[in-house]
Amino acid sequence: MEAPLTITLKHGRYAEDAKPVDRNAVAIADALSDALTDTYRLVLKTHACHWNVAGPMFYPLHQMTEEHYTDMFAAADVLAERIRALRKRASVKPARMIDGLDTGSDTDADPTADEMVRGLLSDHEALSQRFYALVEAAEISGDPVTADLATERAAFHDKAAWMLRATAA
Ligand SMILES: [Fe+2]
Repeated sequence: MEAPLTITLKHGRYAEDAKPVDRNAVAIADALSDALTDTYRLVLKTHACHWNVAGPMFYPLHQMTEEHYTDMFAAADVLAERIRALRKRASVKPARMIDGLDTGSDTDADPTADEMVRGLLSDHEALSQRFYALVEAAEISGDPVTADLATERAAFHDKAAWMLRATAA
């Protein structure tokens, strides 16, 4: 007679906690967490432009920024869920998330539409570079799923940068 099937409940967040730590997954999850934080930061910065931009370019910039923050907000969820799939905690780095963001008040001089566009452009370029680096790191780590996700995000930021660059020209 076969031995009865027994299930052993393990303490800890995951049964897999018993496995040795996968150092590659730790590094990739940390890089994803940086990318998640920077993505949220750019959502906030893009939203501020959406609300406060003024001048003849108001409407096209108001529309473009809405497209961009909508995409990035959805992407942040996908990035966070990939971190969870790698069995790491999904969290943002709060200090870094607001670092350098304009917290302006009514007494501050408003940035011009052109300054806002150039500010967003350089952030999209930087984020794109971060995702290119993540593609490389993920490929080296044998993690094609993260590499695919990072490729998709780099493509988005390259396209957003092109649109902003064309607007600023
Ligand atoms: Fe809006």
